[in-house]
Amino acid sequence: MSVAVLQTKPEEFPIPEGVFAETVTEVKHYTDNLFRFRTTRSDSLRFRSGEFVMIGLLNAKKPVYRAYSVASPNWDENLEFFSIKVPNGPLTEHLQKIQPGHTILIRKKPTGTLVNDALIPGKRLWMFSTGTGIAPFASLIRDPETYDKFEEVILTHTCREVTELKYGQDLIKEIKDDPLVGELIEGRLRYYCTTTREEYPFMGRITDLMKSGKLFEDLGVDPINLEVDRGMICGSMAMLNETKEILESFGLEEGANSKPASFVIERAFVG
Ligand code: A2P
Repeated sequence: MSVAVLQTKPEEFPIPEGVFAETVTEVKHYTDNLFRFRTTRSDSLRFRSGEFVMIGLLNAKKPVYRAYSVASPNWDENLEFFSIKVPNGPLTEHLQKIQPGHTILIRKKPTGTLVNDALIPGKRLWMFSTGTGIAPFASLIRDPETYDKFEEVILTHTCREVTELKYGQDLIKEIKDDPLVGELIEGRLRYYCTTTREEYPFMGRITDLMKSGKLFEDLGVDPINLEVDRGMICGSMAMLNETKEILESFGLEEGANSKPASFVIERAFVG
């Protein structure tokens, strides 16, 4: 059987209660630390674009689950995820070995705050991401609802090295041919990516680029202002906190599903 690495004895580990068992359809490795995978999607697995699910593997009686943003939009018949590979990480040391045909467990009950519903109406939506934090935005930029709600969308992505930007760069190239949103995004979706530890045309932490104003200069837009702008943030705890402070200094206020406001943060991925 080709699934030996992760499912040595499937009969030993029945599918737990309350989970969807999906089949991996595609895996793409970007770097030694980053990969993307796609799976089937059960008809009853419903989520809002930008939400996350808990993912596990069928390799133990009590599988280890970790939060993963769904990177595909809610209309897509497949699911997509973008993952790091943590050496000795309880889940990712195994997850990084998955191949088409393997089973992924997904707990029922997607949730999350990076959703259009948690923002009050505005003209322009900023999505600030570092590393795999781009995943929920990969979902949202492919959802027509985002363009119903906002005239303009600006996605920023910062990584240490150039190769780590590839997932986002491919996404932006491919979205232009997307049958559902390809036309909608014309002149309305902007993408700004930077590196911090390798030479690239645009460099620096997004927080520094906001504070210096270079981000706005490079894009040729006015600085963030409450009348126009809304924000979503996904990255490490330090990045979330610093970006939050900056958005607050521009007069924006953090919201949640229960209390929509002018920006939202996803805290599910950071310890
Ligand atoms: P840097 O290389 O200067 O640390 P990580 O892999 O550590 O999560 O980092 C991903 C990206 O996020 C890196 O480019 C990193 O920059 C950047 N970053 C790390 N901490 C912050 C922060 N507090 N604010 C903004 N960006 C950050």
